Amino acid sequence: MQISLKPCKDPKTIATDCLVVFSNGQLSGALTAINEASDGAIDALLKRGDFKGKVAETLYIPYLPGIRAKRLLLVGTGDSETVSDADADKLLQSGIAVLNKQQSKDCCLLFGDLRVDGRKASWLLQRSAQLLEVSRYRYSETLSKAKPGSALRRAVLQGSNSDSNRKLVEYGQQTAEGINVTRRLGDLPGNICTPDFLAKESRKLARQFEKVKVSVLDEKKMQQLGMGALLSVSAGSDQPARLIAIEYQGAAKSQRPHVLVGKGVTFDTGGISLKPGAKMDEMKYDMCGAASVVGTLRAVAGAELKVNVVGIVAAAENMPSGRATKPGDIVTSMSGQTIEILNTDAEGRLVLCDALTYAGKYKPASVIDIATLTGACVVALGKHAIGLYSNQDDFAAELQNCGNEARDRAWPMPLWDDYQPQLDSNFADMANIGGPEAGSVTAACFLSRFCKDYRWAHLDIAGAAWLSGANKGATGRPVGLLFNYLQSKAKD
Ligand code: BES
Ligand code: MN
Ligand code: ZN
Repeated sequence: MQISLKPCKDPKTIATDCLVVFSNGQLSGALTAINEASDGAIDALLKRGDFKGKVAETLYIPYLPGIRAKRLLLVGTGDSETVSDADADKLLQSGIAVLNKQQSKDCCLLFGDLRVDGRKASWLLQRSAQLLEVSRYRYSETLSKAKPGSALRRAVLQGSNSDSNRKLVEYGQQTAEGINVTRRLGDLPGNICTPDFLAKESRKLARQFEKVKVSVLDEKKMQQLGMGALLSVSAGSDQPARLIAIEYQGAAKSQRPHVLVGKGVTFDTGGISLKPGAKMDEMKYDMCGAASVVGTLRAVAGAELKVNVVGIVAAAENMPSGRATKPGDIVTSMSGQTIEILNTDAEGRLVLCDALTYAGKYKPASVIDIATLTGACVVALGKHAIGLYSNQDDFAAELQNCGNEARDRAWPMPLWDDYQPQLDSNFADMANIGGPEAGSVTAACFLSRFCKDYRWAHLDIAGAAWLSGANKGATGRPVGLLFNYLQSKAKD
């Protein structure tokens, strides 16, 4: 959609399908002008108590004489001077939901005195742009009749049309595009979204953006590189594994890239250590880490950030079969370290460890892996916080801050050496499981053994990547966090 900035000084003259006014329920600012133009209609309506201005309350007025806008939508901001960032999201989302429901083609958002705790005024611009664009996502690909799409085509945001504001709006929109790419890949079923499908979708980015190059390794090439851990996961599947590298060059070649590594298990049955049947369909989402890598690269390329980024996707399907890996099997990873596979359902770390070793060849400035890695992380943190691990404390703090800024929050977890012995094996350098205690931590400990040579963080998104129940669907997290990080690394 087209999003532009205008100061919007005289609300009654704004021509739009729907004028959205953020208000605390008092007659002030834009509402005073609209009230005068409409012969006191707003005053009457406030006095009747039809709109109290509570946070995220909405009042939709389909027609109001005296103003040029076809419709008016009031969105409550509560009575405190500033709102929390969480409330800001709530009220923006409730307003946008009404806009979508009413099928408005264009809209104009008047923020008035709306201020968000601890954020610059311009934060609202980037955030509104992102939420408007995200609201357009519909999953329709496997429906015989497509759902009606969003009617929203144009939005005007109240703000000065400065270079810096325009850039923030652009970043918000590009982040949303990336989020929507991630959601789509996550929501597609496992019989469509296979490792090869992920490779083909990644290749599309190279066609779309000049600064993106994509290369794909097949199983033969991975064999030559010694990726025995990754290949042990695809062994039982008829779908061949793929290792996809998406290289975005937004800065001088000499600048070391930031590397993102995504777990792309396109379906996780557990393998021979078969999962129970309940909710197993949700294991189509086990490639959401990979999807977030593709989505972030999409966003970064769209925003033309001046930074070098490499996305690596380790794509494989985890199936039981006569050729599948068995508990007790021992494989050699690309790093040379051997692994006793005691549980074939702990496969994410197996695809990731070889991809992380491969990442080293880029001489990275930093490496972040993103994975729906452990059920234990869901137990520990639920769906709100992403589990955050790093081999450098300042890196964890940096990423936590990026998550806060982007409202895509992560919480630091311990990567202490004390947990490492849980991975001891009698027959190999390590086992792929660490027993019942601290499952998310021992999974991170496993990965840390392959990331000794660079600044590394691990995001366990098992709880955050998708929602279950009536709202089942991919969330597009943590594209917001990752984009914010890369935005902060980009040179202007
Ligand atoms: N993909 C799962 C983790 C998962 C489970 C994510 C549920 C989201 C919801 C992962 O491959 C897995 O199966 N992990 C095992 C590890 C265990 C065998 C050590 C788990 O968490 O049970
Ligand atoms: Mn598994
Ligand atoms: Zn898995």
